Amino acid sequence: MNKIKKTLFSNKPVTIDENSLIMAIESSCDETACAIVKGGREVLANVVASQIKIHEEYGGVIPEIAAREHLEAVNVAVAETFKQANVKPEDITAFAGTVGPGLVGCLLVGLNATKSLALAYDKPFIGINHLNAHISANFIDTELKPPFIALLVSGGHTQIIDVKSYSELEIIGETIDDAVGEAYDKVARLIGLPYPGGPKLDKLAQVGNPFAFKLPEAKVGGYDFSFSGLKTAVLRLVKSFDGQELPVNDVCASFQECVSATLLKKVKHALEERGYNQVVLAGGVAANSEIRKKIFNLKDEGYDVYAPQMKYCTDNASMVASAAFFFDKTFDDINVEVFSRV
Ligand code: KG4
Ligand code: ZN
Repeated sequence: MNKIKKTLFSNKPVTIDENSLIMAIESSCDETACAIVKGGREVLANVVASQIKIHEEYGGVIPEIAAREHLEAVNVAVAETFKQANVKPEDITAFAGTVGPGLVGCLLVGLNATKSLALAYDKPFIGINHLNAHISANFIDTELKPPFIALLVSGGHTQIIDVKSYSELEIIGETIDDAVGEAYDKVARLIGLPYPGGPKLDKLAQVGNPFAFKLPEAKVGGYDFSFSGLKTAVLRLVKSFDGQELPVNDVCASFQECVSATLLKKVKHALEERGYNQVVLAGGVAANSEIRKKIFNLKDEGYDVYAPQMKYCTDNASMVASAAFFFDKTFDDINVEVFSRV
């Protein structure tokens, strides 16, 4: 891996190689994160300031509050990252930041901090797509190389991506309505679990009977998904108890079984059709116990399976630095604007 980037003032070329140190900032939603990664795979520092406690009382992320919190936290996170990595700003090879998709006000804070660092230290600036960053969490501490099929499951996205090379990524399927994480959070809310409900629902599902209730699997063609019908089916199921005690663990387990079986089926189909033997899981929902288990079971069928370590599943900046190192299609123009949706 050897990339040449330009610094901002002197225009002198900078080579990005195994010894390069990339500092990245991530602020697309409710985590202010900063990291320094060496050679795309070795994390020297990974700092995450979570706002979950602040948004909990509202039952979801309030964009205005989130943006203000990023502003409070970003400088502290950057300073703490330099300290933990024991690295000076002058030693950084390039600065990377998330451009989108995400909450615009939030993205602006992190991206402007990144641009400022690049300008102040006359280093290359690298803008990163948040979804490529989630996939790149799989490069950390591994030797993964394309081609592979990626299953990206987060709060905002559900996609199957054919990662043909570091420069060619093809989205071959996606959700036509709710993302998996969104469905988890909505179902969690309707059974009374606090925000963010996904991880809590997962915990209850682990002690429930996954075959207690048969929930409908959406019939969507190709590699696409739909989860809004499933969410409505859970709502109907919950209402049918009409005051009687709800078997919460069994409802959670049955929902989780339906979601994970659907994801597995489509991923297997993609692997077979594209003829790949590597599959990677990515995004916040990659932390889910049953989805991980089902995807890892593909090892028994001869596939190489990757999933990020738990701390690199949900939003963090190490994955952003790794994406800056590996992926070619980045935003290297300092004037790049943030974007909310793909
Ligand atoms: O990737 P991420 O941190 O943010 C986005 O880019 O969206 O993903 C957050 C999502 C939330 O919807 C959260 O409920 C879900 O990931 N999540 C989980 C689990 N851990 C996080 N969903 C199900 N099971 C989990 N264990
Ligand atoms: Zn994310």
